[in-house]
Amino acid sequence: MMDLACSVLQQTPLTAGYWALDLAAGKIADAARPGQFVHVRVPGLERASLRRPFSIFGARDGVLKILYKTVGRGTAEMSQLRPGDAVQVIGPLGNGFPLEPQGVPVLVAGGFGVAPLCFLASRLRRKGVLVVGGRTADDVLAVEAFEQMGWPVHVATQDGSRGETGLVTLPLDRVLAELKAQGQAPELYSCGPDGMLRAVCERALAADCRGWLSLDKHMVCGVGACLACVQNLRRPDGSTWIGRVCHDGPIFEAREIVW
Ligand SMILES: Cc1cc2nc3c(=O)[nH]c(=O)nc-3n(C[C@H](O)[C@H](O)[C@H](O)COP(=O)(O)OP(=O)(O)OC[C@H]3O[C@@H](n4cnc5c(N)ncnc54)[C@H](O)[C@@H]3O)c2cc1C
Ligand code: FES
Repeated sequence: MMDLACSVLQQTPLTAGYWALDLAAGKIADAARPGQFVHVRVPGLERASLRRPFSIFGARDGVLKILYKTVGRGTAEMSQLRPGDAVQVIGPLGNGFPLEPQGVPVLVAGGFGVAPLCFLASRLRRKGVLVVGGRTADDVLAVEAFEQMGWPVHVATQDGSRGETGLVTLPLDRVLAELKAQGQAPELYSCGPDGMLRAVCERALAADCRGWLSLDKHMVCGVGACLACVQNLRRPDGSTWIGRVCHDGPIFEAREIVW
């Protein structure tokens, strides 16, 4: 884990409310693994709440990419950053996804949850399928990056403005049924809103396959010290414990999570 001053290389507006931020992050980018996150000190915020966690969207040749949505004060301040501005970044933080799947990787993304999954797809040893959902077409991001890597992509939006109309579980259930018919086991990886993670968790249990879920909990310190991000978890013997998403996660296997 490092704490570095990183300069902004580029800030790109994507669809409405979404941005991609490229930072010159040297050793943080070099050490980053898919599923890990960074804690960014956002200029203009008061001391008590000045950092915000973001998944690593990409990391290559010392450049760290973040894909984010403006939802409040911190992300609104971030969207004002311009090339040459400096931000303080702690990272890489958290455990990351396993990179050697036992089955066909099925990545399930919602909104900015596609960020860590895009980085994952670039590092997985095996090609898989992306299933991505959102409320509208604006919430469907990075599809082209997956297509360039040769991944089939299935899109669903709730208002039908891109892909099929409905929840991401529509194409997901079809993909899982097709794999089953071919005698292939899936391995699920997911990041997105809680409702989506729960639906993916249920499917991992039903298919008796591994499901890796990236939990999004409100964080303060980001390094295991403040207990802002606790989550009830289950050990293989059935006993429970309280984990810290920033320190013990943010990736947990479906069977570990007590909803
Ligand atoms: C491990 C991890 C990885 C993340 N990766 C990304 C990412 O790649 N891209 C991205 O855009 N966001 C990501 N987030 C969420 C991001 O940290 C929050 O959106 C951000 O902290 C909001 O800051 P703000 O000051 O703009 O909003 P605030 O002013 O703090 O809050 C504005 C609104 O957003 C809600 N909110 C705040 N934090 C979260 C949260 N963690 N989850 C859901 N709602 C929240 C608040 O309840 C409030 O309604 C991640 C969070 C975690 C824990
Ligand atoms: S954010 Fe402080 S313990 Fe996780």
